[in-house]
Amino acid sequence: MSDKKQSNAMWGGRFASGPDAIMEAINASIDFDQRMARQDIEGSRAHAAMLAQQGIITDSDAEAIREGLLTVLSEIETGTFKYSKALEDIHMNVEARLKEIVGEPAGRLHTGRSRNDQVALDFKLWTRDQFDAAISGLDALIKALLVQAEEHADVVMPGFTHLQVAQPVTWGHHMMAYVEMFARDKSRMMDARARMNESPLGAAALAGTGFNIDRDMTAKALGFDRPSANSLDAVSDRDFALEFLSSSSICATHLSRFAEELVIWSSAQFRFVVLSDRFSTGSSIMPQKKNPDAAELIRAKVGRINGSLVGLLTVMKGLPLAYSKDMQEDKEQVFDAADSLMLALAAMTGMVGDMKPNVESLEVAAASGFSTATDLADWLVRELGMPFRDAHHVTGALVKMAEDGGVDLPDLTLEQMQSVHADITDAVFGVLGVHNSVASRLSYGGTAPKRVREQVARWTKELG
Ligand code: ARG
Repeated sequence: MSDKKQSNAMWGGRFASGPDAIMEAINASIDFDQRMARQDIEGSRAHAAMLAQQGIITDSDAEAIREGLLTVLSEIETGTFKYSKALEDIHMNVEARLKEIVGEPAGRLHTGRSRNDQVALDFKLWTRDQFDAAISGLDALIKALLVQAEEHADVVMPGFTHLQVAQPVTWGHHMMAYVEMFARDKSRMMDARARMNESPLGAAALAGTGFNIDRDMTAKALGFDRPSANSLDAVSDRDFALEFLSSSSICATHLSRFAEELVIWSSAQFRFVVLSDRFSTGSSIMPQKKNPDAAELIRAKVGRINGSLVGLLTVMKGLPLAYSKDMQEDKEQVFDAADSLMLALAAMTGMVGDMKPNVESLEVAAASGFSTATDLADWLVRELGMPFRDAHHVTGALVKMAEDGGVDLPDLTLEQMQSVHADITDAVFGVLGVHNSVASRLSYGGTAPKRVREQVARWTKELG
Protein backbone atom coordinates (compact mmCIF):
# COMPACT_ATOMS: atom_id res chain seq x y z
CA MET A 1 0.00 0.00 0.00
CA SER A 2 2.83 2.41 0.81
CA ASP A 3 4.57 1.46 -2.46
CA LYS A 4 4.01 4.56 -4.59
CA LYS A 5 4.42 2.62 -7.81
CA GLN A 6 1.20 0.72 -7.15
CA SER A 7 -2.10 2.34 -7.96
CA ASN A 8 -4.39 3.25 -5.09
CA ALA A 9 -6.16 0.23 -3.64
CA MET A 10 -9.26 2.29 -2.89
CA TRP A 11 -9.85 3.84 -6.28
CA GLY A 12 -7.00 2.65 -8.48
CA GLY A 13 -8.87 0.17 -10.70
CA ARG A 14 -8.40 2.23 -13.84
CA PHE A 15 -4.91 3.48 -12.98
CA ALA A 16 -1.78 1.83 -14.32
CA SER A 17 0.59 3.58 -11.92
CA GLY A 18 0.59 5.40 -8.61
CA PRO A 19 0.77 9.17 -8.14
CA ASP A 20 3.84 11.31 -8.45
CA ALA A 21 5.36 12.24 -5.10
CA ILE A 22 4.30 15.86 -5.59
CA MET A 23 0.79 14.72 -6.44
CA GLU A 24 0.68 12.76 -3.22
CA ALA A 25 1.95 15.76 -1.29
CA ILE A 26 -0.65 18.15 -2.65
CA ASN A 27 -3.46 15.59 -2.53
CA ALA A 28 -3.08 14.07 0.91
CA SER A 29 -5.03 15.56 3.78
CA ILE A 30 -4.28 12.92 6.40
CA ASP A 31 -1.81 15.14 8.25
CA PHE A 32 -4.69 17.35 9.33
CA ASP A 33 -7.96 15.53 8.76
CA GLN A 34 -6.94 12.82 11.23
CA ARG A 35 -8.51 15.20 13.75
CA MET A 36 -11.86 13.94 12.46
CA ALA A 37 -11.12 10.26 13.14
CA ARG A 38 -13.69 9.91 15.89
CA GLN A 39 -16.39 11.52 13.76
CA ASP A 40 -15.46 9.36 10.77
CA ILE A 41 -15.84 6.20 12.81
CA GLU A 42 -19.05 7.36 14.43
CA GLY A 43 -20.54 8.10 10.98
CA SER A 44 -19.40 4.76 9.55
CA ARG A 45 -20.84 2.85 12.48
CA ALA A 46 -24.22 4.52 11.96
CA HIS A 47 -24.03 3.87 8.22
CA ALA A 48 -23.24 0.17 8.72
CA ALA A 49 -26.13 -0.28 11.16
CA MET A 50 -28.48 1.35 8.66
CA LEU A 51 -27.23 -0.81 5.77
CA ALA A 52 -27.99 -3.92 7.83
CA GLN A 53 -31.40 -2.71 8.93
CA GLN A 54 -32.30 -2.09 5.30
CA GLY A 55 -31.06 -5.56 4.29
CA ILE A 56 -28.34 -4.06 2.10
CA ILE A 57 -25.61 -5.90 4.01
CA THR A 58 -25.98 -8.80 6.45
CA ASP A 59 -26.25 -8.31 10.18
CA SER A 60 -23.07 -10.28 10.71
CA ASP A 61 -21.13 -8.09 8.26
CA ALA A 62 -22.49 -4.98 9.98
CA GLU A 63 -21.50 -6.38 13.36
CA ALA A 64 -17.98 -7.16 12.14
CA ILE A 65 -17.68 -3.65 10.68
CA ARG A 66 -19.01 -1.92 13.78
CA GLU A 67 -16.77 -3.91 16.14
CA GLY A 68 -13.77 -3.51 13.86
CA LEU A 69 -14.29 0.25 13.77
CA LEU A 70 -14.16 0.35 17.56
CA THR A 71 -10.82 -1.43 17.40
CA VAL A 72 -9.59 1.16 14.90
CA LEU A 73 -10.81 3.93 17.20
CA SER A 74 -8.96 2.52 20.17
CA GLU A 75 -5.78 2.23 18.10
CA ILE A 76 -6.16 5.87 17.15
CA GLU A 77 -6.86 6.97 20.70
CA THR A 78 -3.93 5.03 22.13
CA GLY A 79 -1.63 6.35 19.42
CA THR A 80 -0.75 2.98 17.86
CA PHE A 81 -2.53 3.67 14.57
CA LYS A 82 -0.17 4.14 11.62
CA TYR A 83 -1.37 6.86 9.28
CA SER A 84 -0.41 6.52 5.65
CA LYS A 85 -0.04 9.43 3.22
CA ALA A 86 -0.58 7.06 0.32
CA LEU A 87 -4.09 6.52 1.67
CA GLU A 88 -4.71 10.27 1.34
CA ASP A 89 -7.20 11.01 4.05
CA ILE A 90 -8.80 9.85 7.28
CA HIS A 91 -11.64 8.10 5.46
CA MET A 92 -9.40 5.78 3.49
CA ASN A 93 -6.94 5.31 6.34
CA VAL A 94 -9.72 4.06 8.59
CA GLU A 95 -11.28 1.85 5.94
CA ALA A 96 -7.95 0.28 4.97
CA ARG A 97 -7.18 -0.56 8.58
CA LEU A 98 -10.68 -1.93 9.03
CA LYS A 99 -10.01 -4.27 6.10
CA GLU A 100 -6.83 -5.50 7.78
CA ILE A 101 -8.80 -6.19 10.96
CA VAL A 102 -12.09 -7.67 9.70
CA GLY A 103 -11.32 -8.64 6.10
CA GLU A 104 -14.00 -8.89 3.43
CA PRO A 105 -16.94 -7.19 5.24
CA ALA A 106 -14.93 -3.95 5.32
CA GLY A 107 -15.34 -3.69 1.56
CA ARG A 108 -19.13 -3.49 2.00
CA LEU A 109 -19.10 -0.44 4.28
CA HIS A 110 -18.85 2.06 1.44
CA THR A 111 -22.10 0.84 -0.18
CA GLY A 112 -24.54 3.67 -0.85
CA ARG A 113 -22.20 6.45 0.18
CA SER A 114 -19.17 8.32 -1.13
CA ARG A 115 -16.27 10.14 0.39
CA ASN A 116 -18.12 13.30 -0.60
CA ASP A 117 -21.01 12.82 1.81
CA GLN A 118 -18.63 11.15 4.26
CA VAL A 119 -16.32 14.14 4.50
CA ALA A 120 -19.25 16.55 4.70
CA LEU A 121 -20.63 14.46 7.56
CA ASP A 122 -17.35 14.16 9.45
CA PHE A 123 -16.62 17.85 9.14
CA LYS A 124 -20.14 18.78 10.21
CA LEU A 125 -19.93 16.57 13.28
CA TRP A 126 -16.56 18.07 14.15
CA THR A 127 -17.75 21.63 13.66
CA ARG A 128 -20.94 20.97 15.62
CA ASP A 129 -18.80 19.95 18.60
CA GLN A 130 -16.93 23.23 18.24
CA PHE A 131 -20.14 25.22 18.27
CA ASP A 132 -21.01 23.42 21.51
CA ALA A 133 -17.57 24.09 22.97
CA ALA A 134 -17.75 27.78 22.02
CA ILE A 135 -21.23 28.07 23.52
CA SER A 136 -20.10 26.63 26.85
CA GLY A 137 -16.91 28.70 26.72
CA LEU A 138 -19.05 31.80 26.28
CA ASP A 139 -21.28 30.73 29.16
CA ALA A 140 -18.26 30.47 31.44
CA LEU A 141 -16.99 33.89 30.37
CA ILE A 142 -20.39 35.50 30.85
CA LYS A 143 -20.64 34.01 34.33
CA ALA A 144 -17.23 35.39 35.26
CA LEU A 145 -18.33 38.83 34.03
CA LEU A 146 -21.54 38.62 36.05
CA VAL A 147 -19.52 37.98 39.21
CA GLN A 148 -17.37 41.06 38.47
CA ALA A 149 -20.46 43.16 37.79
CA GLU A 150 -22.28 42.07 40.92
CA GLU A 151 -19.30 42.47 43.24
CA HIS A 152 -18.38 45.89 41.91
CA ALA A 153 -21.75 47.27 40.86
CA ASP A 154 -21.11 50.52 42.78
CA VAL A 155 -17.51 51.12 41.78
CA VAL A 156 -17.35 54.28 39.69
CA MET A 157 -15.03 54.66 36.75
CA PRO A 158 -14.75 57.06 33.86
CA GLY A 159 -16.85 56.26 30.84
CA PHE A 160 -15.11 57.21 27.62
CA THR A 161 -15.99 58.33 24.16
CA HIS A 162 -13.09 58.91 21.75
CA LEU A 163 -11.02 57.58 24.71
CA GLN A 164 -11.67 60.97 26.32
CA VAL A 165 -13.39 61.02 29.70
CA ALA A 166 -17.09 61.51 29.00
CA GLN A 167 -19.31 60.69 31.98
CA PRO A 168 -18.88 58.57 35.10
CA VAL A 169 -20.12 55.00 34.75
CA THR A 170 -19.88 51.96 36.98
CA TRP A 171 -17.53 49.00 36.73
CA GLY A 172 -20.57 46.78 36.86
CA HIS A 173 -22.11 48.57 33.90
CA HIS A 174 -18.91 48.24 31.89
CA MET A 175 -18.73 44.50 32.60
CA MET A 176 -22.37 44.11 31.64
CA ALA A 177 -21.71 45.74 28.27
CA TYR A 178 -19.47 42.76 27.50
CA VAL A 179 -22.10 40.39 28.82
CA GLU A 180 -24.44 41.74 26.15
CA MET A 181 -21.78 41.29 23.45
CA PHE A 182 -20.82 37.75 24.43
CA ALA A 183 -24.46 36.78 24.85
CA ARG A 184 -25.07 37.87 21.26
CA ASP A 185 -22.08 35.76 20.22
CA LYS A 186 -23.60 32.81 22.00
CA SER A 187 -26.96 33.34 20.35
CA ARG A 188 -25.30 33.61 16.93
CA MET A 189 -23.54 30.30 17.56
CA MET A 190 -26.78 28.70 18.68
CA ASP A 191 -28.62 29.94 15.60
CA ALA A 192 -25.93 28.61 13.30
CA ARG A 193 -25.79 25.29 15.12
CA ALA A 194 -29.54 24.85 14.71
CA ARG A 195 -29.34 25.73 11.00
CA MET A 196 -26.49 23.32 10.26
CA ASN A 197 -28.04 20.33 11.99
CA GLU A 198 -29.04 18.35 8.88
CA SER A 199 -27.29 15.14 7.93
CA PRO A 200 -25.52 14.96 4.56
CA LEU A 201 -24.97 11.20 4.90
CA GLY A 202 -26.63 9.33 2.05
CA ALA A 203 -26.27 12.15 -0.46
CA ALA A 204 -23.53 9.82 -1.77
CA ALA A 205 -21.25 11.28 -4.45
CA LEU A 206 -23.72 13.97 -5.51
CA ALA A 207 -26.94 12.44 -6.83
CA GLY A 208 -28.14 10.20 -4.01
CA THR A 209 -28.08 6.43 -4.38
CA GLY A 210 -30.13 3.60 -5.87
CA PHE A 211 -29.80 1.56 -2.68
CA ASN A 212 -32.81 1.62 -0.41
CA ILE A 213 -31.06 3.55 2.37
CA ASP A 214 -32.79 5.10 5.38
CA ARG A 215 -31.39 8.58 5.80
CA ASP A 216 -33.70 9.39 8.67
CA MET A 217 -32.20 6.56 10.66
CA THR A 218 -28.60 7.70 10.26
CA ALA A 219 -29.58 11.33 10.80
CA LYS A 220 -31.23 10.43 14.09
CA ALA A 221 -28.39 8.16 15.22
CA LEU A 222 -25.91 10.99 14.67
CA GLY A 223 -27.94 13.62 16.50
CA PHE A 224 -29.20 15.51 13.46
CA ASP A 225 -32.69 16.96 13.24
CA ARG A 226 -33.26 15.58 9.72
CA PRO A 227 -31.42 14.54 6.57
CA SER A 228 -30.53 17.35 4.17
CA ALA A 229 -33.06 17.66 1.36
CA ASN A 230 -30.84 18.08 -1.70
CA SER A 231 -27.93 15.77 -2.40
CA LEU A 232 -26.04 18.30 -4.56
CA ASP A 233 -26.25 20.87 -1.83
CA ALA A 234 -25.44 18.34 0.90
CA VAL A 235 -22.02 17.44 -0.51
CA SER A 236 -21.04 20.96 -1.54
CA ASP A 237 -22.36 22.98 1.39
CA ARG A 238 -19.78 24.47 3.73
CA ASP A 239 -22.03 27.19 5.13
CA PHE A 240 -21.75 25.59 8.55
CA ALA A 241 -18.00 26.12 8.47
CA LEU A 242 -18.39 29.67 7.20
CA GLU A 243 -20.95 30.43 9.89
CA PHE A 244 -18.67 28.97 12.53
CA LEU A 245 -15.87 31.18 11.26
CA SER A 246 -17.99 34.30 10.94
CA SER A 247 -19.54 33.98 14.37
CA SER A 248 -16.07 33.19 15.73
CA SER A 249 -14.68 36.29 14.03
CA ILE A 250 -17.29 38.51 15.63
CA CYS A 251 -16.69 36.87 18.99
CA ALA A 252 -12.92 37.27 18.60
CA THR A 253 -13.50 40.91 17.70
CA HIS A 254 -15.33 41.38 21.00
CA LEU A 255 -12.58 39.55 22.85
CA SER A 256 -9.96 41.79 21.26
CA ARG A 257 -11.80 44.95 22.27
CA PHE A 258 -11.98 43.80 25.86
CA ALA A 259 -8.37 42.61 25.76
CA GLU A 260 -7.32 46.04 24.52
CA GLU A 261 -9.09 47.68 27.44
CA LEU A 262 -7.33 45.36 29.87
CA VAL A 263 -3.98 46.19 28.32
CA ILE A 264 -4.67 49.91 28.70
CA TRP A 265 -6.24 49.63 32.14
CA SER A 266 -3.39 47.59 33.59
CA SER A 267 -0.76 50.13 32.49
CA ALA A 268 1.02 52.35 35.01
CA GLN A 269 -0.64 55.36 33.39
CA PHE A 270 -4.16 54.09 34.03
CA ARG A 271 -3.89 51.68 36.97
CA PHE A 272 -7.59 50.82 36.66
CA VAL A 273 -7.14 47.09 37.12
CA VAL A 274 -4.73 44.62 38.62
CA LEU A 275 -4.35 41.46 36.54
CA SER A 276 -3.31 38.32 38.34
CA ASP A 277 0.20 36.90 38.12
CA ARG A 278 -1.36 33.78 36.64
CA PHE A 279 -2.16 35.64 33.43
CA SER A 280 0.86 37.93 33.24
CA THR A 281 4.52 37.49 32.47
CA GLY A 282 7.74 39.19 33.48
CA SER A 283 10.50 40.70 31.40
CA SER A 284 13.88 39.00 31.15
CA ILE A 285 15.66 42.36 31.37
CA MET A 286 13.38 44.78 33.23
CA PRO A 287 12.72 43.36 36.71
CA GLN A 288 9.85 45.74 37.46
CA LYS A 289 7.74 44.67 34.48
CA LYS A 290 4.52 42.73 34.64
CA ASN A 291 3.20 42.33 31.15
CA PRO A 292 -0.42 41.58 30.20
CA ASP A 293 0.64 38.95 27.64
CA ALA A 294 -2.55 36.93 27.81
CA ALA A 295 -4.60 40.02 27.02
CA GLU A 296 -2.26 40.94 24.17
CA LEU A 297 -2.47 37.46 22.66
CA ILE A 298 -6.24 37.45 22.94
CA ARG A 299 -6.21 40.82 21.20
CA ALA A 300 -4.12 39.25 18.41
CA LYS A 301 -5.99 35.96 17.94
CA VAL A 302 -8.69 37.71 15.96
CA GLY A 303 -6.11 38.09 13.19
CA ARG A 304 -5.90 34.41 12.44
CA ILE A 305 -9.63 33.85 12.97
CA ASN A 306 -10.56 36.61 10.53
CA GLY A 307 -7.88 35.23 8.21
CA SER A 308 -9.51 31.82 8.29
CA LEU A 309 -12.89 33.31 7.48
CA VAL A 310 -11.55 35.21 4.50
CA GLY A 311 -9.53 32.16 3.48
CA LEU A 312 -12.50 29.83 3.36
CA LEU A 313 -14.83 32.40 1.80
CA THR A 314 -12.25 32.73 -0.95
CA VAL A 315 -11.96 28.97 -1.42
CA MET A 316 -15.73 28.59 -1.72
CA LYS A 317 -16.27 31.58 -3.97
CA GLY A 318 -17.13 30.59 -7.53
CA LEU A 319 -17.06 26.82 -6.91
CA PRO A 320 -19.47 25.06 -9.25
CA LEU A 321 -21.74 22.33 -7.87
CA ALA A 322 -21.18 19.83 -6.49
CA TYR A 323 -18.02 18.63 -4.70
CA SER A 324 -14.63 19.93 -5.84
CA LYS A 325 -11.32 19.04 -4.28
CA ASP A 326 -10.85 22.71 -3.45
CA MET A 327 -13.09 21.98 -0.51
CA GLN A 328 -10.39 19.91 1.16
CA GLU A 329 -8.87 23.31 1.99
CA ASP A 330 -11.76 23.98 4.39
CA LYS A 331 -10.56 22.06 7.41
CA GLU A 332 -7.32 23.66 8.51
CA GLN A 333 -9.01 27.05 8.54
CA VAL A 334 -11.72 25.84 10.87
CA PHE A 335 -9.36 23.75 13.01
CA ASP A 336 -7.06 26.70 13.57
CA ALA A 337 -9.86 29.17 14.22
CA ALA A 338 -11.56 26.80 16.66
CA ASP A 339 -8.33 26.19 18.59
CA SER A 340 -7.63 29.91 18.72
CA LEU A 341 -11.13 30.82 19.81
CA MET A 342 -11.36 28.21 22.58
CA LEU A 343 -7.98 29.25 23.95
CA ALA A 344 -8.86 32.93 23.84
CA LEU A 345 -12.19 32.33 25.57
CA ALA A 346 -10.56 30.24 28.30
CA ALA A 347 -7.78 32.78 28.84
CA MET A 348 -10.23 35.67 29.01
CA THR A 349 -12.43 33.79 31.46
CA GLY A 350 -9.40 33.14 33.68
CA MET A 351 -8.31 36.77 33.55
CA VAL A 352 -11.77 38.11 34.31
CA GLY A 353 -12.12 35.73 37.24
CA ASP A 354 -8.86 36.93 38.76
CA MET A 355 -8.79 40.64 37.98
CA LYS A 356 -9.29 43.28 40.65
CA PRO A 357 -10.57 46.78 39.93
CA ASN A 358 -8.43 49.46 41.54
CA VAL A 359 -11.30 51.28 43.23
CA GLU A 360 -9.36 54.40 44.31
CA SER A 361 -7.73 55.08 40.94
CA LEU A 362 -11.02 54.47 39.19
CA GLU A 363 -12.81 56.95 41.43
CA VAL A 364 -10.17 59.65 40.96
CA ALA A 365 -10.21 59.10 37.21
CA ALA A 366 -14.02 59.11 37.16
CA ALA A 367 -14.04 62.61 38.64
CA SER A 368 -11.40 63.95 36.29
CA GLY A 369 -11.96 65.62 32.95
CA PHE A 370 -15.06 67.52 34.15
CA SER A 371 -16.94 64.25 33.86
CA THR A 372 -20.04 65.59 35.63
CA ALA A 373 -20.47 68.56 33.29
CA THR A 374 -23.54 66.90 31.76
CA ASP A 375 -25.02 66.49 35.25
CA LEU A 376 -24.53 70.23 35.77
CA ALA A 377 -26.22 71.06 32.46
CA ASP A 378 -29.09 68.69 33.29
CA TRP A 379 -29.48 70.45 36.68
CA LEU A 380 -29.80 73.83 34.96
CA VAL A 381 -32.51 72.37 32.73
CA ARG A 382 -34.36 70.70 35.57
CA GLU A 383 -34.07 73.36 38.28
CA LEU A 384 -33.92 76.61 36.31
CA GLY A 385 -36.07 75.54 33.37
CA MET A 386 -33.34 76.43 30.89
CA PRO A 387 -33.43 75.00 27.35
CA PHE A 388 -30.73 72.29 27.14
CA ARG A 389 -28.77 74.20 24.47
CA ASP A 390 -28.47 77.25 26.78
CA ALA A 391 -27.58 75.05 29.73
CA HIS A 392 -24.87 73.45 27.59
CA HIS A 393 -23.47 76.91 26.90
CA VAL A 394 -23.49 78.02 30.55
CA THR A 395 -21.85 74.74 31.60
CA GLY A 396 -19.20 75.21 28.94
CA ALA A 397 -18.34 78.60 30.46
CA LEU A 398 -18.10 77.04 33.93
CA VAL A 399 -15.83 74.26 32.63
CA LYS A 400 -13.60 76.91 31.06
CA MET A 401 -13.48 78.79 34.34
CA ALA A 402 -12.51 75.62 36.24
CA GLU A 403 -9.93 74.68 33.63
CA ASP A 404 -8.34 78.13 33.73
CA GLY A 405 -8.24 77.95 37.52
CA GLY A 406 -6.72 74.47 37.45
CA VAL A 407 -9.58 73.00 39.51
CA ASP A 408 -12.45 70.54 39.01
CA LEU A 409 -16.09 71.62 38.70
CA PRO A 410 -17.03 70.87 42.36
CA ASP A 411 -14.12 73.10 43.48
CA LEU A 412 -15.66 76.26 41.98
CA THR A 413 -17.28 78.54 44.58
CA LEU A 414 -20.95 79.45 44.42
CA GLU A 415 -19.95 83.08 43.72
CA GLN A 416 -17.85 81.98 40.76
CA MET A 417 -20.79 79.98 39.44
CA GLN A 418 -23.20 82.85 39.96
CA SER A 419 -20.88 85.12 38.01
CA VAL A 420 -21.74 82.97 34.99
CA HIS A 421 -25.43 82.55 35.82
CA ALA A 422 -27.00 84.43 38.72
CA ASP A 423 -29.77 81.89 39.45
CA ILE A 424 -27.46 78.99 40.30
CA THR A 425 -27.87 77.89 43.93
CA ASP A 426 -25.98 75.79 46.44
CA ALA A 427 -28.05 72.77 45.46
CA VAL A 428 -26.00 72.41 42.28
CA PHE A 429 -23.12 70.88 44.24
CA GLY A 430 -25.33 67.88 44.95
CA VAL A 431 -25.10 66.72 41.34
CA LEU A 432 -21.40 67.26 40.80
CA GLY A 433 -20.17 64.17 42.65
CA VAL A 434 -19.51 61.02 40.64
CA HIS A 435 -21.54 58.73 42.89
CA ASN A 436 -24.58 60.98 42.62
CA SER A 437 -24.04 61.15 38.92
CA VAL A 438 -24.11 57.40 38.32
CA ALA A 439 -26.94 56.85 40.82
CA SER A 440 -29.07 59.32 38.87
CA ARG A 441 -28.71 57.46 35.55
CA LEU A 442 -31.76 55.33 36.18
CA SER A 443 -33.12 55.18 32.65
CA TYR A 444 -33.55 51.61 31.38
CA GLY A 445 -30.13 50.34 30.36
CA GLY A 446 -28.44 53.15 32.29
CA THR A 447 -25.35 52.93 34.49
CA ALA A 448 -27.04 53.34 37.93
CA PRO A 449 -25.99 50.50 40.26
CA LYS A 450 -29.67 49.71 40.76
CA ARG A 451 -30.15 49.11 37.04
CA VAL A 452 -26.89 47.18 36.76
CA ARG A 453 -28.01 44.83 39.53
CA GLU A 454 -31.30 44.27 37.75
CA GLN A 455 -29.41 43.27 34.61
CA VAL A 456 -27.13 40.96 36.56
CA ALA A 457 -30.21 39.29 38.02
CA ARG A 458 -31.83 38.98 34.59
CA TRP A 459 -28.78 37.33 33.01
CA THR A 460 -28.13 35.11 36.01
CA LYS A 461 -31.68 33.82 35.74
CA GLU A 462 -31.39 33.38 31.99
CA LEU A 463 -28.21 31.32 32.27
CA GLY A 464 -29.78 29.13 34.91
N1 ARG B 1 -10.09 14.32 1.66
C1 ARG B 1 -11.23 14.76 0.92
C2 ARG B 1 -11.69 16.15 1.45
O1 ARG B 1 -11.29 16.51 2.48
C3 ARG B 1 -12.34 13.79 1.03
C4 ARG B 1 -13.30 13.81 -0.10
C5 ARG B 1 -12.67 13.29 -1.32
N2 ARG B 1 -13.61 13.16 -2.39
C6 ARG B 1 -13.22 12.99 -3.64
N3 ARG B 1 -14.15 12.91 -4.51
N4 ARG B 1 -11.98 12.94 -3.97
O2 ARG B 1 -12.44 16.85 0.80
